[in-house]
Amino acid sequence: MCGIVGYVGAKPAAPILVDGLARLEYRGYDSAGVAVLGPSEIRLHRDAVRVRELEAGLPKRFGGKSGIGHTRWATHGVPSQQNAHPQLSADGRVAVVHNGIIDNAAQLRAELEADGVPLTSDTDTEVLAHLIARAPADTLEDAVLTALGRIEGTYGIAVLHQAHPDRVVVARNGSPIILGIGDREMHVASDTAALVRYTKQVVHLDDGELATLRADGYQTFTRDARTTKTAVTVDWDASDYGTDGHEHFMHKEIAEQPDAVRRILKGRLDERFHTVRLGGLEMDARELREFRRVKILGCGSAYYAGQAGAQFIEEVARIPADAEPASEFRYRNPVIEKDTLYVAVSQSGETYDTLVAVQELKRKGGRVIGLVNAVGSSIARECDGGVYLHAGPEVAVASTKALTNMLVGFALLGLHLGRIRDVSPADGRRLIQALQALPEQIEAIVGDEEHLAAVAKELATAPSLFFVGRTRGFPVAREGAQKLKEISYRHAEAYQTSELKHGPLALVGPELPTVAIVPDDELLDRNLGALQEISARSGPLTVVTHDGVDLGVAPAHVIAVPKSEPELDPLLLTIPLQLLAYHAALTLGHDVDKPRNLAKSVTVE
Ligand code: AGP
Repeated sequence: MCGIVGYVGAKPAAPILVDGLARLEYRGYDSAGVAVLGPSEIRLHRDAVRVRELEAGLPKRFGGKSGIGHTRWATHGVPSQQNAHPQLSADGRVAVVHNGIIDNAAQLRAELEADGVPLTSDTDTEVLAHLIARAPADTLEDAVLTALGRIEGTYGIAVLHQAHPDRVVVARNGSPIILGIGDREMHVASDTAALVRYTKQVVHLDDGELATLRADGYQTFTRDARTTKTAVTVDWDASDYGTDGHEHFMHKEIAEQPDAVRRILKGRLDERFHTVRLGGLEMDARELREFRRVKILGCGSAYYAGQAGAQFIEEVARIPADAEPASEFRYRNPVIEKDTLYVAVSQSGETYDTLVAVQELKRKGGRVIGLVNAVGSSIARECDGGVYLHAGPEVAVASTKALTNMLVGFALLGLHLGRIRDVSPADGRRLIQALQALPEQIEAIVGDEEHLAAVAKELATAPSLFFVGRTRGFPVAREGAQKLKEISYRHAEAYQTSELKHGPLALVGPELPTVAIVPDDELLDRNLGALQEISARSGPLTVVTHDGVDLGVAPAHVIAVPKSEPELDPLLLTIPLQLLAYHAALTLGHDVDKPRNLAKSVTVE
């Protein structure tokens, strides 16, 4: 998805902008560009190329101490030089980069054309550059406000103006804009990944806010007034955005999971009272006891983590809980109940559907907490409190370590809610010990990579697969199918094992492999029965189970994980499925980290 960078300071801007764009590459893009303010004009360099080609082609004279840059993912108009950002005004005095979508672009383009303004691209963004250049205003800030007043839609923008060489003006409405406070310089980006090499002090703009960046600082404001912001410290390093010797980010992030789990647990386990400490919830036990339901909202894998989380909370804390895709919830005019605890779950903290669901909840007076990985992100700021996931930055589009930490986060929340209700100290101790054992158990699963790679190689040849599981195993099956779809482009469908005989069994046969999640739990016999049914129809089976389980059939492949406590089963059972998807994608020769058609965070509708 599109990325924005900007710089004002004493250094040459172009190398800083290009470096920032390279750090946003992981988000996916089809073209890239930069504009800097030279002594007497805006210098522009853009094309439908990779960032390294953009850099190699930078003109010799490309000096300037302020500038903006962009990686574009085409929405209006094909990837081309003309459609790449920055977009310029007709007089060449204004340059704009833009994330988001201008809904009334067609109407504005028609008006501009009727006024004799030559439009040189197919983009919605170009209209902004013209509107700013033509705005009857004394200051750049007023010109930007006037132009934005004509716009319907979402945007994160950065603007450069030849007549105002000391500043970059930025604005946000539905698409992230983050300021980076440097030493006598200011940076801006749509993602902290582009900032952490230069500064750890960042300021997140809210919707409706603008900012003027100068070398000596920044000023934020809205249409009506100046605003005051507090900077937050980002604890991620530039090195966290490297592959650290791994062939892919996804591989690195799978391997990092033991440490990621250690980080989310750190300082949160209370062995004296056999419970957990979650200070970020900002609600005391008395308030938390008032909730009669828990409703979890997230998208994609975060939603599957929410499904597993809801099961954990209901099973352990005995509070009715369920999960729903935030993308659906926000559109169905949901009834908001005051005794329901709403939980938004997100790695990026910028997923638009989840963010709008949170805003809708708050508008109706709901109490919502966040399970979020990105500190200071939009969803984290919008929630009433929450639990940070501390997975570290996740770069690969396919979520792995963040998903695992979401599952741990739900276990912490569920145990906390349970121990202020009726969960006994003994059960609290049992679950805490199981949580503490997770990092080593994950290490053991990741250590089985060679075997998993061999299984994946075989599964990758099948055009279509089933993933089945029941109760705690069902979100695992859904996530396994999702991971395989995302990066191997194989059709994979997840079902509750119990539903097979109500329809899908008709498809089972030698051509359709099934990956069955079979934990050693109270439903083992039922699951074994389903394995018999699949085997009887010659369906090739890969069974993900626990060490020492007698399956009663001879599957093509058995993947055994160490035993945890049953409530935590989804966590360990998911890890091998990540490696299956990874190696299937490798076998098929796909770009593991940047699968086609997908972006790391979906910040648009
Ligand atoms: C996960 O592998 C996917 N890339 C995707 O489903 C993702 O989980 C979803 O878009 C939600 O993202 P978030 O956690 O950043 O909100």
